[in-house]
Amino acid sequence: MKSKVLITGVAGFIGSNFADRLLKEGDYQVIGIDNLAYGVREQVPDGVEFYQLDIRDSSIYPLFQQIDYVFHFAAKNCISDCQLDPVETADINVRGTVNVFEAAKRNGVRKVIYAESSALYEGSSTFPTPENEIVPLSFYAVSKVSTMYFAEAYRRFYNLKYTALRYFCVYGPRQDYRRTVPPVFSAFIIKLLKGEQPIIYGTGEKRRDFIFIDDINDFHLMCMHDSRTDNEVFNLGSGKNYSVKEIYQIIARLLNSDLQPVHQPDLPGEAFANLADIRKAQNLGWQPRVDLITGLQKSIDYIKMEMAKGNIK
Ligand SMILES: NC(=O)c1ccc[n+]([C@@H]2O[C@H](COP(=O)([O-])OP(=O)(O)OC[C@H]3O[C@@H](n4cnc5c(N)ncnc54)[C@H](O)[C@@H]3O)[C@@H](O)[C@H]2O)c1
Repeated sequence: MKSKVLITGVAGFIGSNFADRLLKEGDYQVIGIDNLAYGVREQVPDGVEFYQLDIRDSSIYPLFQQIDYVFHFAAKNCISDCQLDPVETADINVRGTVNVFEAAKRNGVRKVIYAESSALYEGSSTFPTPENEIVPLSFYAVSKVSTMYFAEAYRRFYNLKYTALRYFCVYGPRQDYRRTVPPVFSAFIIKLLKGEQPIIYGTGEKRRDFIFIDDINDFHLMCMHDSRTDNEVFNLGSGKNYSVKEIYQIIARLLNSDLQPVHQPDLPGEAFANLADIRKAQNLGWQPRVDLITGLQKSIDYIKMEMAKGNIK
């Protein structure tokens, strides 16, 4: 019999890609929730049983009946937006997440796999950063660190299993390019394809660890079938980092562009660098497989296709 998987945030970047992967694997029935605050309905793959609902609402509870695994991705996750609205950040990321744990507990779900973030390491100066170096600074990071304690309390008092995932900078097709400040990869690619000068916030020296979406999805699948992931937290990055400037140069080279970027003032709340210590996930046999150039080329191909369809203006 097929396992039933419920994904929150299914219309977003990671949720829609993972739903796609599950459907391609063939052994899963996929139920998806998203309130479409940031996500896009058209991104939800055909074959997903979709519900436009808010994770903070108790109307989500009946959907968790007979569910084997929950992947909880829904969040308010643009750091600069979260800095402007700490109340909504806590409401969605903390209260919404607790509501998802509660729905899972009430319905005897086998396990909740949920998204934390490398932002938990914002104040750390240890690079690469291992899982125990938690120093959250921004409102976003503080909201994410709170969920860690709730996950542990649901395990302690109700035996609800979890895996917490600390993604570094995930990139790939369907990355959210509609945001006020889109993630650097899509922002650079879109501007250069349009023949416009991309914006670099700050000097471009900030360094980020980028990981391709397919590698993340490999680990998601492991979370359902490898009990060594139970009640543990894992960094998911590539273990290499690049400056924003370097990324810009690589993308410009791939697109044969000599346009120079425009610099604007730095965005609030963002860490200077991140770099994942991925040994814990590697010790389970997981390994990032997609190198930066291959991953970027796939992202470029996707954005070109969406532009041709008129979906990206
Ligand atoms: N993409 C990354 O690089 C990255 C890095 C670290 C952590 N994360 C975490 O991974 C998760 C997924 O990230 P993503 O990049 O796919 O983000 P995304 O913004 O593309 O997707 C999030 C989805 O959640 C939905 N959502 C927001 N509030 C909701 C609510 N109240 N009820 C129902 N749905 C709601 C949005 O509409 C959106 O479709 C998030 O929890 C994020 O914090 C992502």
